Amino acid sequence: MNTVKTGTHDFVVVANRLPVDRVTLEDGTAAWRTSPGGLVSALHPLMQASTGAWVGWHGAENEVLEPFHEDSIDLVPVPLSSADVRLYYEGFSNSTLWPLYHDVIVPPEFHRTWWVAYREVNARFARAAAGTAAPGATVWVHDYQLQLVPKMLRDLRPDLTIGYFDHIPFPSTDLFAQLPWRSRILEGLLGADLIGFQRASDTANFLTSVKRFLGLTPRKGEVRRPGSGRSSRAQTHPISIDAAKIADLAASPAVQDRARQIREELGNPETVLLGVDRLDYTKGIRHRLKAYAELLEDRALSVGQACLLQIASPSREKVDSYQQLREEVEGTVGRINGEYDSLAHTAVRYLHHSYPTEEMVALYLAADVMLVTPLRDGMNLVAKEYVQARFDGGGRLVLSEFAGAADQLGSAVIVNPHDIDGLKASILEAVNMEPTEAKRRLVSMRRNVQDHDVARWSRHFLTSLQETQDDDASPHAGGPGATGTPGRGAR
Ligand code: G6P
Repeated sequence: MNTVKTGTHDFVVVANRLPVDRVTLEDGTAAWRTSPGGLVSALHPLMQASTGAWVGWHGAENEVLEPFHEDSIDLVPVPLSSADVRLYYEGFSNSTLWPLYHDVIVPPEFHRTWWVAYREVNARFARAAAGTAAPGATVWVHDYQLQLVPKMLRDLRPDLTIGYFDHIPFPSTDLFAQLPWRSRILEGLLGADLIGFQRASDTANFLTSVKRFLGLTPRKGEVRRPGSGRSSRAQTHPISIDAAKIADLAASPAVQDRARQIREELGNPETVLLGVDRLDYTKGIRHRLKAYAELLEDRALSVGQACLLQIASPSREKVDSYQQLREEVEGTVGRINGEYDSLAHTAVRYLHHSYPTEEMVALYLAADVMLVTPLRDGMNLVAKEYVQARFDGGGRLVLSEFAGAADQLGSAVIVNPHDIDGLKASILEAVNMEPTEAKRRLVSMRRNVQDHDVARWSRHFLTSLQETQDDDASPHAGGPGATGTPGRGAR
């Protein structure tokens, strides 16, 4: 039954994916389960406090679903055909924008047919959001798949307050210059009142591109459009995690038992090193394996004494570069294990699976050294979850300077993952770090994560978004206000 009334929602989130997964219950029937991400837990209370809705794709091709209600959120599914998935999602989003925005670690491909599909699908999301939002509502658009939505939505519904948050890096101007549709993307983003980025360098890159490709001169992060009376602001708002949820799980006896069991199953090595990543070329898994293999080769580490547990969750499996990466990583793991394993112990325990949050926290508790060494990463929430889980002060974090999290977690062992000798030295530094030093670093990092959790992030973003309305001195300004709770009454 369709219980969701269109055009009545004061707060609308728009993201490529809905925050639910389809599951099969014991009796064989299909149901929806809210996905475990921090974004959904942060926005949940806001969705309940106001009349909230989430617009997004439900993950199946060629299926048209009516809006539905799940776990107190109204969900508005946007359908994608097989061709949309191929051209808009696997193509323009994940074979053009994703590699371009991650420093061209693999070469981005530019195809006009992909661009056309990206525009069409963005227009579909914009129409769905326009049909969902109440007069004067606040709409928050998320991530690189939907960069044209802010302008398209503004054209359809000038009454809305529109925010956009970019979860991935924004590339340097010289790289962004490659994109044949660079001005259209910038125009699309400038449809938002507030455009949020993870790092100050992302915000600066965006503003430099606005100046270079649109000829507009930003002042203190504000871009004014001559003749329109409108302006947009770009700001840095680093995302975070649901800190209380991770702390609760880490305190749970069942999770702690599971952590002990994991160490036993690995043969109780002195040092468990852990990597947890989507299987993505941005994550630096190949560099990490190379450094680890060289440490075994140098006899700085030995099998039995150390074990690397690498979780690689399946991702974008139809995209060529992801298929190639999987082959390379699995080939490398096979070679390392063939060379260094004994009958009793393994060098690398590799698992190509996704796990629920409970198991992730047990893994964090089991790991002496967490390796978060991406070549480029918007933020990396695994790093924040790890430090938050280690209430015992026992873990050590090796963190890439190219992850956004390095701006908040400066007490980690910070590394340039391209520098294999540096990476080896950092891994050894973490393995051999004195417990008092490890604890001192963790305490400071945990404090940062606890003080800056995802609820604070969304509150701050939405308060800043509301301030863009107040500063415009609109006679109708109102809405979220100081509490950041979205509500009616913008322009
Ligand atoms: C990154 C992106 C998200 C995306 C996620 C999973 O974190 O910033 O927008 O949803 O990866 O990727 P997928 O392609 O499976 O949605």
